[in-house]
Amino acid sequence: MGKDVIIACDFAGKAECMSFLDKFTGVKPFVKIGMELFYAEGPQIVRDIKARGHKIFLDLKLHDIPNTVKKSMAVLSRLDVDMCNLHAGGTVAMMEAAIEGLTRPDGTRPILIAVTQLTSTSEERMRSDLLIEKPMEEVVMHYALNAKRAGLDGVVCSPLEAAAVHSVCGKEFYTVTPGIRFADGDKGDQSRVTTPEKAKEIGSDYIVVGRPITAAADPVKAYNRCVKEFVG
Ligand code: C5P
Repeated sequence: MGKDVIIACDFAGKAECMSFLDKFTGVKPFVKIGMELFYAEGPQIVRDIKARGHKIFLDLKLHDIPNTVKKSMAVLSRLDVDMCNLHAGGTVAMMEAAIEGLTRPDGTRPILIAVTQLTSTSEERMRSDLLIEKPMEEVVMHYALNAKRAGLDGVVCSPLEAAAVHSVCGKEFYTVTPGIRFADGDKGDQSRVTTPEKAKEIGSDYIVVGRPITAAADPVKAYNRCVKEFVG
């Protein structure tokens, strides 16, 4: 695995999602299923998309006591997803329990990555609401190192942080990065954005791309452009 474009399938329901995926006749892109689609359709949506031959990143961001996360991860592992995630804020003990739950009897498991601090959390809010006094970058790198120590495979981060994460956690530690826009595209509600080409240059391992593909006039063409710019 590594160096791939993941399409964020942020759709409200199955019909919309499947008619989008129907457009891809040749290739089977890696797709991300988030909370909205999963909570609307239940686990069957994962089985249905998997049955069509797509790799799946199930973006449910688990955060609970270690035992609950361990048991929930075992369920997700049996759903045969390829990648899933949790909040590093749940502590190293929670992340270790997650790895345990995720590991199948044959020793295989999906890739597990951590959310450090959500990009919607500002340094000011982190200080006032969470009582975390350190600078954002230090907190993000500390959480990334905790994830590595717990045995996780990488983190979700801004492409602009990918180089720093690699320098702290090693080149083989995955950086999965949203916030991608084409140079000539619309930024939408994202503020710190980067092109697929630039994300490649900084060292992202996976880019997560939603609207630049899902809202494009020709989604297959937009996906192919992303792959060409990012993977080469
Ligand atoms: O449409 P767009 O390309 O902005 O979609 C990006 C995807 O990545 C969305 O599913 C969004 O929720 C997710 N994401 C993000 N920023 C983060 C974490 C996740 O944009 N920090």
